[in-house]
Amino acid sequence: MPVLYDEKNKIFNVYTKNFSLVFGIFADKLPILIHCGKRIKNTYNIHKMLDYKLKGGMAFAARNKEFNNEISLETVSALYPTYGNTDVRMPAISIMHNNGTMCSNFYYKSHKITDGKENLEILPSVYCEEGDNVQTLTLTLYDEPSALTLTLSYSAFYDYDIITQNVKLENAGERVKIDRIMSAAVDLPDKDFDFVHLYGNWARERQIQRTPLFNGGMTVDSKRGSSSAHHNPFFALARKNTDEFLGEVFGFSLLYSGNFTAGVEVDSIDNTRAFIGINPFNFGWTLEKGESFIAPEGVMCYSCEGFSKMSDNFQKIARQRICRGKYRDIERPVLLNNWEATYFNFNEEKLIDIAKKAKAAGVELFVLDDGWFGKRDDDKTSLGDWFVDKAKLPNGIDGLAKKINDMGLKFGLWFEPEAISPVSELYKKHPDWCLHIKGRVQNESRNEYLLDLSRDEVCDYIIEFMSDILSSANIEYIKWDMNRNMTDIGNEVLESGRQCEIAHRYMLGLYRVLDTLNKKFPNVLFEGCSGGGGRFDLGMLQYFPQIWTSDDSDAVERLYIQHGTSMLYPTSAMGAHVSAVPNHQVQRTTPIDMRGHVAMCGQFGYELDLNKLSDEEFETVKEQIKLYKKISHITHKGTMYRLLSPFEGNYTAWEFLSEDKDEIVLMIANIIKRGGRVAATRVLLKGLDENANYTVENTGEVYGGDFLMNIGFTRKPKKDFESELLIIKKVK
Ligand code: DGJ
Repeated sequence: MPVLYDEKNKIFNVYTKNFSLVFGIFADKLPILIHCGKRIKNTYNIHKMLDYKLKGGMAFAARNKEFNNEISLETVSALYPTYGNTDVRMPAISIMHNNGTMCSNFYYKSHKITDGKENLEILPSVYCEEGDNVQTLTLTLYDEPSALTLTLSYSAFYDYDIITQNVKLENAGERVKIDRIMSAAVDLPDKDFDFVHLYGNWARERQIQRTPLFNGGMTVDSKRGSSSAHHNPFFALARKNTDEFLGEVFGFSLLYSGNFTAGVEVDSIDNTRAFIGINPFNFGWTLEKGESFIAPEGVMCYSCEGFSKMSDNFQKIARQRICRGKYRDIERPVLLNNWEATYFNFNEEKLIDIAKKAKAAGVELFVLDDGWFGKRDDDKTSLGDWFVDKAKLPNGIDGLAKKINDMGLKFGLWFEPEAISPVSELYKKHPDWCLHIKGRVQNESRNEYLLDLSRDEVCDYIIEFMSDILSSANIEYIKWDMNRNMTDIGNEVLESGRQCEIAHRYMLGLYRVLDTLNKKFPNVLFEGCSGGGGRFDLGMLQYFPQIWTSDDSDAVERLYIQHGTSMLYPTSAMGAHVSAVPNHQVQRTTPIDMRGHVAMCGQFGYELDLNKLSDEEFETVKEQIKLYKKISHITHKGTMYRLLSPFEGNYTAWEFLSEDKDEIVLMIANIIKRGGRVAATRVLLKGLDENANYTVENTGEVYGGDFLMNIGFTRKPKKDFESELLIIKKVK
């Protein structure tokens, strides 16, 4: 039972296999955090920590008069710090009351412990299934002067070493404005951590960066209206000695796809306050009497076995308890997407030609990308005009889908439903439907504006046209793209004091649209995309079991991007395609083998015209598809170990160990970063049985598990871009 309550001492222990969040209620009122870290099995005498900590103090620190000056929240950690009392660090929540002041003190009112976990109604959330070892502690706190109720719910997912946090604010008093509301916040009692996060840009998403903490603040964020390629809504706090397999690490993330802030404040006595939530920048939410606000769900993960274990926990909960629907567990089709094969320049004949060859190679799904609607011969027009361009497709989408289906292929279609081109019929009809600020010049990005999804009628319109098209032809897959950041955030619908709600209302609208379409079309496979991997976050995974990882399909760049993405996202979610060479993004020429090996470690597909390959390459493609289908249950559902990092040496090595631990896929690829004498590299496997033997299927060689884990394979690069994909099986 992952929540323990010591009633006598008013101590809660919310725990998982290795992780505990222990807190107490001081003087029957104030929730105080005692411990966040390695699992504490018994909490005998832990309540004394309250007394012990209370004695410590800082010169000139303000003390809480309500508690006889015994306590200063400057040195003692509130469970969910508020602003304006004796804690003058970055709060988890700050609220502007009707009188303009910002002080709140939320005190204990009641609690309940329940099995399982509730879903959030309007936002994505982690769920549990029958039989899961999950419990939720719901703590109700109250700020009397404002009549605000704050509900904090902690759900402990025992087997995943993950605790989710939910925050809800209800107003029974006068109007207030929420200024800041974090989804997860905890204090750690020292600062001996490195801050690890994923930064990037278009075609260079989720690069790993590691920096020691310093006294002061360190944050990553997005003000771009989506989670973005620039910083991912994630950070980890890792001990100095933490590596892939050893050491303590805390991971924080968020089920949210909009503006976020994620970071730490290290105070002058070296306490580290970690937080993640909606970005308070250009955010404010007015709560009238009787209204409530629900923050996006926060996720905290703990590992005492390095980054690989943290990633495994995140990846598994994402794949098994965030992704939903028919496609969560089943093997998804190998697809071919025509984007890099044709861009906007196609007609039915050309597409059929590409599809025929794809079918002959073993591809299962043909996806028609951008350019099939309105008058879209480039990216300058027609977003919003979702009617087929008969000049390109005289038989319509239905006619094309039928021809594709007749070949034995499934058919999929690209959309960018959130965008509108200024040159479009839709814009002529509804110029006010996009985000804009009256009286200011409106900025385009990729020649487009964003529809204002904070408005119900705009969301309803998207649901309607998407439903009509999905019902009009046999479309079994949708690529849902979104190609710009939010600027000019404003509309003429909301009153001036509520304009700072728009970015969040947009996300709520988007989630409603996606939820409705998912439910209405349960057989359609929805893949997310945002100018490549610009909206790859845990929130999106509720609606898209797979997301296009990056527009950069170069095999070398993909080593970095997929390595970084795997910090918390499962390989089953990472769209990864073999594309043409020289690569369209970086002009690099890599062998078809390496392109295949790297893409096979994600959700596999092709992004080129197979007619343009040599016969030999085409034969390789056929073999790749067969191989992928043979191994995808291991690469998607097994445990991933990042054995060697492209950020560190010549070699990248990823091991995937099957759920039953009997089969291993090992992908090794090298890039010669420096010429001359290069030392040999050892690839040491993980997670094997040291008493068992293993056969390498590719060569027939047999090795002991102890050999593979302690001596391993030795590789020395002869030339750039060598790669291999070994299948290793336990000898029974
Ligand atoms: C950006 C996507 O990432 C690409 O894959 C492609 O769909 C283009 N948009 C189409 O405009």
